[in-house]
Amino acid sequence: MSHYLPDYVLTNEELSTMVDTNDEWITTRTGIKERHILKDDHAGSSQLAIPAVRDLLQKTGTAPDEVELLICATSSPDYTWPSTACVIADAVDIRKAMCYDILSACTGFLYCLQQAQAFIKSGIYKKIIICSAEKCTSFVNYKDRTTCTLFGDGGTAALIEPSEEFGVEIAKIHADGAGHEHLIRYCGGSANVPSHEAVDKGLQYIFQDGKYVFKNAVNFMTGAVSEVMEEGQLTLDDIDWICTHQANKRIIDAVRQHLNAPEEKVICNIEHVGNTSSASIPIALHEAALEGKIKKGDRLLLAAFGSGFTWGSVYLSWGDCKI
Ligand code: UT7
Repeated sequence: MSHYLPDYVLTNEELSTMVDTNDEWITTRTGIKERHILKDDHAGSSQLAIPAVRDLLQKTGTAPDEVELLICATSSPDYTWPSTACVIADAVDIRKAMCYDILSACTGFLYCLQQAQAFIKSGIYKKIIICSAEKCTSFVNYKDRTTCTLFGDGGTAALIEPSEEFGVEIAKIHADGAGHEHLIRYCGGSANVPSHEAVDKGLQYIFQDGKYVFKNAVNFMTGAVSEVMEEGQLTLDDIDWICTHQANKRIIDAVRQHLNAPEEKVICNIEHVGNTSSASIPIALHEAALEGKIKKGDRLLLAAFGSGFTWGSVYLSWGDCKI
């Protein structure tokens, strides 16, 4: 597994010079202190995943032509087409694999895991790379204090291979489009083609109905973790680590409280990374593995929620992961 964060760190102090906000508000309402930003306007999300994929290939001793499938979760693709997966594959010399993007916002990593395991279990593919590539800040309006404090950029890559012992055990992944207008970029796709008028109205930026999204994030994530716990007849003793999408520390706390879990079981890096959409869970997992927290054989409960609405929860055992 691998992850990449761009060098530039945007602190709450710097944000406070750009918009009417302050460190105290951001910290108490979100838990975020700083986020990494890809400053280059001409570098897309692929540039955040490419270093992670290169590192992954190198440390797992995988040759590019062994890779049979590359799936990229992204809500901030380089282009509408081609897929960001194709751009990444080209950069690392993967020439024959099936490559495609998944647009399921902050739940993207869980969608990728579910698809990768379906391909592995069916025997169709044996070497799959799942990436997340998120330059979320390309859609952030730095005049809108209700969203600009939240998002950061990052990329990840993980190699998924067949295993008798490790991997996804239970996955409950959902979507309900009824919530789609509450967290949306109105302009950029085919529904609202880019125009001077649209840009003047700021429709290219992320719009979020924060309170509504917050409530739904808590309800849907707690619902999904309950589904997983019930199906597996799991207790807290069956879980070594809980890692949820890093959108807001108060949402992470609500999921933890729902599970009656102690803080020590929770993986949280929101303070220095912010919300990196589909990259948030894999960045948090990889950092925790690098810190020596997550070890081979550990059992993890993951949960995510995002635009769509999409949401889900996954229970897995952590394999022989080259970190
Ligand atoms: O990743 C996808 C899923 N996304 C999420 O899960 C995010 C869910 N939503 C949230 O995390 C929270 O709703 C926010 C962090 C976006 C907002 O927090 P909140 O506690 O819901 O604040 P609010 O929107 O109710 O605003 C409370 C007050 C308002 O002022 P008034 O009307 O009470 O005077 C806002 O104008 O805080 C004000 N405010 C700010 N003040 C300083 C909003 N943003 C800021 C800010 N700095 N950055």
